[in-house]
Amino acid sequence: MAGDGDGRAGLPRIAVVGAGIFARTQYIPRLREIAHLVVLKAIWSRTQESAKAAAELARDFAPEIECKWGDAGLEEIMGDCSIMGVAVVLPGQVQVELSLKMLKAGKHVIQEKPASASTTEAETALSVYNSFPNQFPYKPIWAVGENYRFEPAFVESSKLIKDIGDMMHIQVIIEGSMNSSNPYFNSSWRRNFVGGFVLDMGVHFIAGLRMLVGSEITSVSSISRHVDMALPPPDNICSLFQLENGCAGVFVFAVNSRSPKLLWRVDGTKGTIEVERGVDSGKHGYQVLFSGENGQCQKKFYPFCGVNEELKMFVQDMLAASKDGDHEAEPRSSYVEGARDVAVLEAMLESSAKQGAPVQVKRFP
Ligand SMILES: *[C@@H]1O[C@H](CO)[C@@H](O)[C@H](O)[C@H]1NC(C)=O
Ligand SMILES: *[C@@H]1O[C@H](CO)[C@@H](O)[C@H](O)[C@H]1NC(C)=O
Repeated sequence: MAGDGDGRAGLPRIAVVGAGIFARTQYIPRLREIAHLVVLKAIWSRTQESAKAAAELARDFAPEIECKWGDAGLEEIMGDCSIMGVAVVLPGQVQVELSLKMLKAGKHVIQEKPASASTTEAETALSVYNSFPNQFPYKPIWAVGENYRFEPAFVESSKLIKDIGDMMHIQVIIEGSMNSSNPYFNSSWRRNFVGGFVLDMGVHFIAGLRMLVGSEITSVSSISRHVDMALPPPDNICSLFQLENGCAGVFVFAVNSRSPKLLWRVDGTKGTIEVERGVDSGKHGYQVLFSGENGQCQKKFYPFCGVNEELKMFVQDMLAASKDGDHEAEPRSSYVEGARDVAVLEAMLESSAKQGAPVQVKRFP
Protein backbone atom coordinates (compact mmCIF):
# COMPACT_ATOMS: atom_id res chain seq x y z
CA MET A 1 0.00 0.00 0.00
CA ALA A 2 1.39 3.40 -0.98
CA GLY A 3 2.60 5.64 1.83
CA ASP A 4 0.71 8.86 2.28
CA GLY A 5 3.42 10.54 4.29
CA ASP A 6 1.30 11.23 7.36
CA GLY A 7 1.84 8.04 9.33
CA ARG A 8 -1.50 6.59 8.28
CA ALA A 9 -0.03 4.48 5.47
CA GLY A 10 -1.16 1.17 6.96
CA LEU A 11 -4.77 2.20 7.54
CA PRO A 12 -7.65 0.82 5.47
CA ARG A 13 -9.04 3.12 2.77
CA ILE A 14 -12.60 3.81 1.87
CA ALA A 15 -14.57 5.81 -0.66
CA VAL A 16 -17.81 7.68 -0.05
CA VAL A 17 -20.25 7.35 -2.93
CA GLY A 18 -22.66 10.26 -2.67
CA ALA A 19 -22.20 13.92 -1.82
CA GLY A 20 -25.70 14.88 -0.67
CA ILE A 21 -26.69 16.50 2.63
CA PHE A 22 -26.14 13.38 4.75
CA ALA A 23 -22.75 12.62 3.20
CA ARG A 24 -21.59 16.20 3.76
CA THR A 25 -23.08 16.82 7.22
CA GLN A 26 -22.70 13.35 8.80
CA TYR A 27 -20.23 11.10 6.98
CA ILE A 28 -17.50 13.70 6.54
CA PRO A 29 -17.54 14.97 10.15
CA ARG A 30 -17.79 11.43 11.57
CA LEU A 31 -14.93 10.21 9.32
CA ARG A 32 -12.87 13.17 10.56
CA GLU A 33 -13.41 11.89 14.14
CA ILE A 34 -12.06 8.45 13.17
CA ALA A 35 -9.31 9.64 10.83
CA HIS A 36 -6.85 7.68 13.02
CA LEU A 37 -8.64 4.46 11.99
CA VAL A 38 -9.51 4.88 8.33
CA VAL A 39 -8.43 6.98 5.36
CA LEU A 40 -11.01 8.65 3.15
CA LYS A 41 -9.42 8.02 -0.23
CA ALA A 42 -12.14 9.23 -2.60
CA ILE A 43 -15.53 10.84 -2.79
CA TRP A 44 -17.91 10.33 -5.69
CA SER A 45 -20.87 12.28 -6.99
CA ARG A 46 -22.84 12.28 -10.22
CA THR A 47 -21.28 15.62 -11.13
CA GLN A 48 -17.70 16.81 -10.93
CA GLU A 49 -18.80 20.03 -9.29
CA SER A 50 -20.49 18.41 -6.32
CA ALA A 51 -17.70 15.81 -5.89
CA LYS A 52 -15.17 18.63 -5.71
CA ALA A 53 -17.21 20.68 -3.26
CA ALA A 54 -17.59 17.67 -0.94
CA ALA A 55 -13.90 16.75 -1.20
CA GLU A 56 -12.95 20.24 -0.02
CA LEU A 57 -14.90 19.65 3.19
CA ALA A 58 -12.68 16.65 3.93
CA ARG A 59 -9.35 18.07 2.73
CA ASP A 60 -8.19 18.97 6.29
CA PHE A 61 -8.14 15.32 7.44
CA ALA A 62 -7.84 13.61 4.04
CA PRO A 63 -5.27 15.78 2.23
CA GLU A 64 -4.94 13.34 -0.67
CA ILE A 65 -8.63 12.76 -1.22
CA GLU A 66 -9.57 12.16 -4.87
CA CYS A 67 -12.75 13.41 -6.54
CA LYS A 68 -14.62 10.94 -8.71
CA TRP A 69 -17.72 11.53 -10.77
CA GLY A 70 -20.02 9.91 -13.31
CA ASP A 71 -19.82 6.31 -14.52
CA ALA A 72 -16.08 6.55 -15.12
CA GLY A 73 -15.56 7.60 -11.49
CA LEU A 74 -17.46 4.54 -10.26
CA GLU A 75 -15.34 2.28 -12.45
CA GLU A 76 -12.19 3.87 -11.02
CA ILE A 77 -13.34 3.22 -7.47
CA MET A 78 -14.21 -0.40 -8.28
CA GLY A 79 -10.86 -0.89 -9.96
CA ASP A 80 -8.78 0.70 -7.19
CA CYS A 81 -7.51 -2.22 -5.14
CA SER A 82 -6.28 0.10 -2.37
CA ILE A 83 -9.95 0.91 -1.60
CA MET A 84 -11.21 -1.73 0.81
CA GLY A 85 -14.70 -0.43 1.46
CA VAL A 86 -17.33 1.94 0.16
CA ALA A 87 -19.98 3.98 1.97
CA VAL A 88 -23.03 4.26 -0.28
CA VAL A 89 -24.95 7.41 0.68
CA LEU A 90 -27.37 7.95 -2.20
CA PRO A 91 -31.10 8.41 -2.83
CA GLY A 92 -33.14 5.45 -1.56
CA GLN A 93 -34.16 4.46 -5.08
CA VAL A 94 -30.62 3.71 -6.29
CA GLN A 95 -28.67 2.57 -3.23
CA VAL A 96 -29.25 -1.16 -3.56
CA GLU A 97 -28.18 -1.31 -7.21
CA LEU A 98 -25.01 0.60 -6.45
CA SER A 99 -24.21 -1.41 -3.34
CA LEU A 100 -24.51 -4.66 -5.30
CA LYS A 101 -22.20 -3.29 -7.98
CA MET A 102 -19.55 -2.45 -5.37
CA LEU A 103 -19.98 -5.78 -3.53
CA LYS A 104 -19.56 -7.64 -6.79
CA ALA A 105 -16.28 -5.78 -7.32
CA GLY A 106 -15.14 -7.11 -3.93
CA LYS A 107 -15.65 -3.92 -1.89
CA HIS A 108 -17.08 -4.08 1.60
CA VAL A 109 -20.14 -1.83 1.67
CA ILE A 110 -21.88 0.23 4.31
CA GLN A 111 -25.09 1.48 2.75
CA GLU A 112 -27.27 4.16 4.29
CA LYS A 113 -30.77 3.29 5.45
CA PRO A 114 -33.41 2.51 4.34
CA ALA A 115 -32.07 -0.91 3.33
CA SER A 116 -34.47 -0.98 0.37
CA ALA A 117 -37.59 0.64 -1.00
CA SER A 118 -39.57 -2.57 -0.45
CA THR A 119 -39.18 -6.09 0.90
CA THR A 120 -39.32 -7.42 -2.67
CA GLU A 121 -36.30 -5.34 -3.55
CA ALA A 122 -34.50 -6.55 -0.40
CA GLU A 123 -35.26 -10.22 -1.10
CA THR A 124 -34.04 -9.98 -4.67
CA ALA A 125 -30.93 -8.08 -3.59
CA LEU A 126 -30.09 -10.66 -0.91
CA SER A 127 -30.38 -13.53 -3.37
CA VAL A 128 -28.13 -11.70 -5.83
CA TYR A 129 -25.60 -10.99 -3.06
CA ASN A 130 -25.66 -14.61 -1.85
CA SER A 131 -25.16 -15.96 -5.37
CA PHE A 132 -21.99 -14.01 -6.14
CA PRO A 133 -19.23 -16.45 -7.09
CA ASN A 134 -16.54 -16.82 -4.43
CA GLN A 135 -13.85 -14.96 -6.27
CA PHE A 136 -12.30 -13.26 -3.25
CA PRO A 137 -10.65 -14.80 -0.20
CA TYR A 138 -13.47 -13.19 1.85
CA LYS A 139 -17.17 -12.51 1.38
CA PRO A 140 -17.62 -8.73 1.07
CA ILE A 141 -19.55 -7.35 4.06
CA TRP A 142 -22.86 -5.66 3.35
CA ALA A 143 -23.76 -3.38 6.22
CA VAL A 144 -26.63 -0.92 6.58
CA GLY A 145 -25.97 2.30 8.42
CA GLU A 146 -28.67 2.26 11.10
CA ASN A 147 -27.32 4.41 13.90
CA TYR A 148 -30.20 3.61 16.29
CA ARG A 149 -28.83 0.09 16.81
CA PHE A 150 -25.57 1.70 17.96
CA GLU A 151 -26.93 4.48 20.15
CA PRO A 152 -25.76 3.71 23.70
CA ALA A 153 -29.23 4.61 25.03
CA PHE A 154 -30.80 1.73 23.09
CA VAL A 155 -27.90 -0.62 23.75
CA GLU A 156 -28.15 -0.01 27.51
CA SER A 157 -31.97 -0.14 27.58
CA SER A 158 -31.97 -3.44 25.74
CA LYS A 159 -29.96 -4.84 28.68
CA LEU A 160 -32.26 -3.31 31.33
CA ILE A 161 -35.41 -4.69 29.69
CA LYS A 162 -35.01 -8.09 31.37
CA ASP A 163 -35.52 -6.35 34.72
CA ILE A 164 -39.05 -5.12 33.97
CA GLY A 165 -40.55 -8.62 34.19
CA ASP A 166 -43.16 -9.68 31.64
CA MET A 167 -43.87 -6.98 29.09
CA MET A 168 -47.45 -5.76 29.40
CA HIS A 169 -47.64 -3.10 26.69
CA ILE A 170 -45.53 -0.74 24.62
CA GLN A 171 -46.01 2.81 23.45
CA VAL A 172 -43.93 4.43 20.74
CA ILE A 173 -44.78 8.09 20.20
CA ILE A 174 -43.01 9.82 17.35
CA GLU A 175 -43.89 13.45 16.72
CA GLY A 176 -41.32 14.56 14.19
CA SER A 177 -40.34 18.00 13.02
CA MET A 178 -40.02 17.64 9.26
CA ASN A 179 -40.99 21.21 8.41
CA SER A 180 -39.72 23.68 5.81
CA SER A 181 -36.68 24.60 7.94
CA ASN A 182 -35.44 20.99 7.94
CA PRO A 183 -32.64 20.44 5.41
CA TYR A 184 -34.29 17.20 4.20
CA PHE A 185 -37.72 18.82 3.68
CA ASN A 186 -37.14 19.56 -0.01
CA SER A 187 -35.09 16.44 -0.75
CA SER A 188 -36.59 15.34 -4.06
CA TRP A 189 -35.89 11.62 -3.76
CA ARG A 190 -37.74 11.42 -0.45
CA ARG A 191 -40.74 13.07 -2.08
CA ASN A 192 -40.77 10.49 -4.88
CA PHE A 193 -40.28 7.54 -2.53
CA VAL A 194 -43.21 5.15 -2.01
CA GLY A 195 -44.14 5.50 1.66
CA GLY A 196 -42.68 9.04 1.74
CA PHE A 197 -41.07 10.18 4.96
CA VAL A 198 -43.01 7.52 6.89
CA LEU A 199 -40.77 4.85 5.39
CA ASP A 200 -37.57 6.87 5.17
CA MET A 201 -37.71 8.23 8.74
CA GLY A 202 -39.78 5.39 10.16
CA VAL A 203 -37.09 2.72 9.80
CA HIS A 204 -35.09 4.49 12.53
CA PHE A 205 -37.95 4.38 15.04
CA ILE A 206 -38.73 0.75 14.25
CA ALA A 207 -35.03 -0.09 14.58
CA GLY A 208 -35.08 1.61 18.01
CA LEU A 209 -38.16 -0.37 19.04
CA ARG A 210 -36.82 -3.73 17.85
CA MET A 211 -33.50 -3.07 19.54
CA LEU A 212 -35.18 -2.10 22.83
CA VAL A 213 -37.62 -5.02 23.10
CA GLY A 214 -35.43 -7.71 21.54
CA SER A 215 -38.46 -9.45 20.03
CA GLU A 216 -39.69 -9.28 16.43
CA ILE A 217 -42.89 -7.52 15.38
CA THR A 218 -45.11 -10.17 13.81
CA SER A 219 -48.34 -8.41 12.86
CA VAL A 220 -49.73 -4.89 12.54
CA SER A 221 -52.98 -3.09 11.96
CA SER A 222 -52.68 0.55 10.91
CA ILE A 223 -54.46 3.65 9.71
CA SER A 224 -52.44 6.24 7.84
CA ARG A 225 -53.50 9.72 6.73
CA HIS A 226 -52.35 12.66 4.69
CA VAL A 227 -52.88 15.78 6.77
CA ASP A 228 -50.02 18.18 6.01
CA MET A 229 -50.24 18.87 2.27
CA ALA A 230 -46.72 20.30 2.24
CA LEU A 231 -45.48 16.74 2.85
CA PRO A 232 -45.75 13.70 0.58
CA PRO A 233 -48.40 11.13 1.63
CA PRO A 234 -48.83 9.61 4.09
CA ASP A 235 -47.56 11.90 6.84
CA ASN A 236 -49.38 10.28 9.78
CA ILE A 237 -49.73 6.68 10.84
CA CYS A 238 -51.23 4.98 13.89
CA SER A 239 -50.50 1.34 14.31
CA LEU A 240 -51.33 -1.47 16.69
CA PHE A 241 -48.63 -4.13 16.65
CA GLN A 242 -47.91 -7.47 18.25
CA LEU A 243 -44.54 -8.95 19.09
CA GLU A 244 -43.42 -12.53 18.80
CA ASN A 245 -43.46 -12.71 22.61
CA GLY A 246 -47.20 -11.88 22.58
CA CYS A 247 -46.93 -8.33 23.90
CA ALA A 248 -48.90 -5.65 22.02
CA GLY A 249 -48.16 -1.99 21.56
CA VAL A 250 -49.00 1.17 19.70
CA PHE A 251 -46.86 3.14 17.28
CA VAL A 252 -48.05 6.70 16.66
CA PHE A 253 -46.07 8.67 14.12
CA ALA A 254 -46.55 12.18 12.76
CA VAL A 255 -43.84 13.23 10.32
CA ASN A 256 -44.31 16.86 11.29
CA SER A 257 -45.67 18.05 14.59
CA ARG A 258 -45.64 21.40 16.40
CA SER A 259 -44.14 19.91 19.53
CA PRO A 260 -41.51 17.31 18.62
CA LYS A 261 -41.36 14.28 20.90
CA LEU A 262 -39.74 10.89 20.43
CA LEU A 263 -40.59 8.33 23.08
CA TRP A 264 -40.40 4.56 23.49
CA ARG A 265 -41.99 3.17 26.68
CA VAL A 266 -42.32 -0.45 27.77
CA ASP A 267 -44.39 -1.29 30.82
CA GLY A 268 -43.71 -4.62 32.51
CA THR A 269 -44.92 -6.55 35.56
CA LYS A 270 -41.87 -5.48 37.59
CA GLY A 271 -40.94 -2.14 36.12
CA THR A 272 -41.02 0.32 33.29
CA ILE A 273 -38.43 1.53 30.86
CA GLU A 274 -38.57 4.69 28.83
CA VAL A 275 -36.23 6.13 26.21
CA GLU A 276 -36.85 9.72 25.20
CA ARG A 277 -35.06 12.06 22.86
CA GLY A 278 -33.78 15.14 24.63
CA VAL A 279 -31.03 17.66 25.29
CA ASP A 280 -28.75 17.65 28.31
CA SER A 281 -25.99 20.22 28.97
CA GLY A 282 -26.30 21.37 25.36
CA LYS A 283 -25.88 17.85 23.96
CA HIS A 284 -28.57 16.08 21.94
CA GLY A 285 -29.24 12.48 22.83
CA TYR A 286 -31.60 10.21 24.75
CA GLN A 287 -32.78 10.12 28.32
CA VAL A 288 -33.26 6.61 29.67
CA LEU A 289 -35.60 6.20 32.62
CA PHE A 290 -35.90 2.89 34.41
CA SER A 291 -38.36 2.30 37.26
CA GLY A 292 -37.89 -0.99 39.06
CA GLU A 293 -39.73 -3.22 41.47
CA ASN A 294 -38.93 -1.53 44.79
CA GLY A 295 -39.64 1.99 43.66
CA GLN A 296 -36.03 2.34 42.56
CA CYS A 297 -35.51 4.77 39.70
CA GLN A 298 -32.52 5.23 37.41
CA LYS A 299 -32.17 8.12 35.04
CA LYS A 300 -29.31 8.51 32.61
CA PHE A 301 -28.64 10.69 29.60
CA TYR A 302 -26.72 9.31 26.62
CA PRO A 303 -25.52 11.81 23.98
CA PHE A 304 -25.75 10.74 20.33
CA CYS A 305 -22.82 8.78 18.92
CA GLY A 306 -24.49 6.03 16.85
CA VAL A 307 -23.14 7.09 13.46
CA ASN A 308 -19.60 7.22 14.83
CA GLU A 309 -20.01 3.79 16.50
CA GLU A 310 -21.45 2.13 13.40
CA LEU A 311 -18.62 3.45 11.21
CA LYS A 312 -15.97 2.26 13.69
CA MET A 313 -17.59 -1.17 13.69
CA PHE A 314 -17.59 -1.25 9.89
CA VAL A 315 -13.86 -0.45 9.78
CA GLN A 316 -13.14 -3.18 12.37
CA ASP A 317 -15.24 -5.69 10.45
CA MET A 318 -13.52 -4.83 7.14
CA LEU A 319 -10.11 -5.40 8.66
CA ALA A 320 -11.13 -8.62 10.36
CA ALA A 321 -12.77 -9.95 7.17
CA SER A 322 -9.65 -9.33 5.14
CA LYS A 323 -7.56 -11.27 7.69
CA ASP A 324 -10.05 -14.08 8.22
CA GLY A 325 -12.37 -15.01 5.35
CA ASP A 326 -14.88 -16.55 7.78
CA HIS A 327 -15.18 -13.47 9.98
CA GLU A 328 -18.79 -12.89 11.13
CA ALA A 329 -19.61 -9.21 10.79
CA GLU A 330 -21.49 -7.30 13.51
CA PRO A 331 -25.11 -8.55 13.31
CA ARG A 332 -26.57 -5.13 14.23
CA SER A 333 -25.15 -3.76 10.96
CA SER A 334 -26.29 -6.55 8.70
CA TYR A 335 -28.35 -5.85 5.61
CA VAL A 336 -30.99 -8.29 6.86
CA GLU A 337 -31.54 -6.20 10.01
CA GLY A 338 -32.20 -3.17 7.85
CA ALA A 339 -34.59 -5.17 5.66
CA ARG A 340 -36.53 -6.21 8.79
CA ASP A 341 -37.18 -2.55 9.65
CA VAL A 342 -38.46 -1.94 6.10
CA ALA A 343 -40.71 -5.02 6.39
CA VAL A 344 -42.47 -3.59 9.47
CA LEU A 345 -43.17 -0.23 7.82
CA GLU A 346 -44.27 -1.93 4.62
CA ALA A 347 -46.76 -4.06 6.57
CA MET A 348 -48.06 -0.93 8.33
CA LEU A 349 -48.57 0.86 5.00
CA GLU A 350 -50.22 -2.21 3.49
CA SER A 351 -52.58 -2.49 6.44
CA SER A 352 -53.55 1.17 6.13
CA ALA A 353 -54.26 0.69 2.43
CA LYS A 354 -56.75 -1.97 3.64
CA GLN A 355 -58.34 0.31 6.26
CA GLY A 356 -56.56 -1.31 9.17
CA ALA A 357 -56.88 -4.99 8.24
CA PRO A 358 -54.27 -7.05 10.13
CA VAL A 359 -51.12 -7.74 8.10
CA GLN A 360 -48.34 -10.20 8.92
CA VAL A 361 -44.85 -8.72 8.77
CA LYS A 362 -42.70 -10.40 6.13
CA ARG A 363 -39.92 -12.36 7.79
CA PHE A 364 -36.27 -12.29 6.87
CA PRO A 365 -34.68 -15.40 8.36
C1 LIG B 1 -39.60 23.61 12.43
O1 LIG B 1 -39.43 22.81 13.59
C2 LIG B 1 -38.47 23.28 14.49
C3 LIG B 1 -38.36 22.26 15.60
O2 LIG B 1 -39.62 22.02 16.17
C4 LIG B 1 -38.91 24.66 15.01
O3 LIG B 1 -37.94 25.16 15.90
C5 LIG B 1 -39.09 25.59 13.83
O4 LIG B 1 -39.60 26.83 14.28
C6 LIG B 1 -40.06 25.01 12.81
N1 LIG B 1 -40.08 25.82 11.63
C7 LIG B 1 -41.21 26.10 10.98
C8 LIG B 1 -41.06 26.93 9.72
O5 LIG B 1 -42.32 25.77 11.38
C1 LIG C 1 -37.88 24.29 0.79
O1 LIG C 1 -38.70 24.88 -0.21
C2 LIG C 1 -39.60 25.86 0.30
C3 LIG C 1 -40.52 26.28 -0.84
O2 LIG C 1 -39.79 26.50 -2.03
C4 LIG C 1 -38.79 27.02 0.89
O3 LIG C 1 -39.66 27.97 1.44
C5 LIG C 1 -37.89 26.47 2.01
O4 LIG C 1 -37.07 27.47 2.52
C6 LIG C 1 -37.02 25.32 1.50
N1 LIG C 1 -36.35 24.74 2.64
C7 LIG C 1 -35.07 24.42 2.67
C8 LIG C 1 -34.54 23.87 3.93
O5 LIG C 1 -34.34 24.59 1.71
